[in-house]
Amino acid sequence: MARSKPSPLESLRESSRVRDAARELIRAVAAEANQRELSPKAYERALKGVARLRGRPLFFPAISGGIGRGARVRLADGTTRLDFISGIGVYGFGHSDPDLLETAVVAAAGDAVFQGHLLPGSEYIALSKALLRHAGGHLKHAWLSVSGAMANENALKMIFQKHSPADNIVVFEKNFAGRSLALAEVTDRPAFRDGLPMTGKVHYVPFYDEGDPDSIARSLAVLEGHLARHPGRIAGMGFELVQGEGGFRCAPREFFVALMERCREAGVAVWVDEVQTFARTGELYAFRTLGLENLVDVVTVGKTLQGSAALFTKAYNPRPGLIAGTYAGSTVGMAVGTRIIERLELEGYLGPEGRVALLGGRFERRLDSLKKRMPRAIGPRSGIGAMQAFVPFDGSPEIVTAIVARAFEEGLMVFSAGSNPTKIRMLLPVNTTDEELESGFSILEIAMRAVAQEHDLSC
Ligand SMILES: Cc1ncc(COP(=O)(O)O)c(C=O)c1O
Repeated sequence: MARSKPSPLESLRESSRVRDAARELIRAVAAEANQRELSPKAYERALKGVARLRGRPLFFPAISGGIGRGARVRLADGTTRLDFISGIGVYGFGHSDPDLLETAVVAAAGDAVFQGHLLPGSEYIALSKALLRHAGGHLKHAWLSVSGAMANENALKMIFQKHSPADNIVVFEKNFAGRSLALAEVTDRPAFRDGLPMTGKVHYVPFYDEGDPDSIARSLAVLEGHLARHPGRIAGMGFELVQGEGGFRCAPREFFVALMERCREAGVAVWVDEVQTFARTGELYAFRTLGLENLVDVVTVGKTLQGSAALFTKAYNPRPGLIAGTYAGSTVGMAVGTRIIERLELEGYLGPEGRVALLGGRFERRLDSLKKRMPRAIGPRSGIGAMQAFVPFDGSPEIVTAIVARAFEEGLMVFSAGSNPTKIRMLLPVNTTDEELESGFSILEIAMRAVAQEHDLSC
């Protein structure tokens, strides 16, 4: 029987001719990149050049050499670093993952670099389907976009339109939502909105405080106060289920259920920002890890996805004209984002016993063992799965900055988060190996001991 022609909506990677050519190109690029490196002086000049272009220096003196392996990335000066911050969520499967590169190469060799909403390709369709497959039945639609901020802007527009004339929003204290003008006000960080015009229509509720047995009642009372003060004017409440910038703070299910149920009762939309939590908490979405699928109206994703999207229920589908935008995403980003979701499913990353959940346990054990050697240097841990943080020493920003800088010099990239206390945070690649974890913790210990000595701190 004659084989029917393959569908143009299937990935071209299924063709062995295409796959072999992609592998050959990847090998050639790696071989070439491996031979290139800048001398220390040329690297210094390149760093200064970047600072001039941007108007400020880079946070780390790091320019990628365009190649890596797992959690390790090669810099343009030929040195390598263990990257435990993943570009704050960009490199979810680490660097130069062969399977993702192959997916990317095939997508890149197709029709167009970017795709718009006017003429979507197979990658657009596959990604939308993959996102909704895990969303739990209640969320029916996905609108793709390029950045987390744009997904959140779309979410806010859908919520405001549905709840018009309500034009106020409630979010958690210390939340982060993105860098657009509207989201700079939603984000609870004064420095991030310095000099910007504000509407005064964003109100804050305290996030969960594990030290306060009345935390749920206290947050509910603050929400109640906003509802009473602005009757009929609160359109939605934003939920960052694990606070990212705010310090990888988690909360139990009951906390979110109480607030979300109150929102639903009051006719307030439940908007969940999963831009940072996407793929990092054990399920694809933290709202599923926490079993909140029946309480959400609009969910946004980004970062590890290699693009972004707003997912929404039928009721929040906006009237024509409200959301559009030239770009839905890059073709490579969409193809790789879809493949990441497939890999998470196929390779056992999801679920309570999945590799992401186990990574959280492995991290915890390493930190516990470091704490045995440095009891005064390691404070409380927070986070879940592939997003982990801890308080070093007294949690002062100066000490955290010194550790982050010293760790970089020694070969490890980590970052800071939160304030009072400031923490060391890690967005680990989901496929971080034991060897990588062990090396990372050895470097961390060296860096922390060096900073302790410099600042006269006892470990
Ligand atoms: C929770 C959260 N929402 C939104 C954003 C904004 O995403 P983007 O930087 O892609 O615009 C971020 C980025 O850090 C985030 O962590």
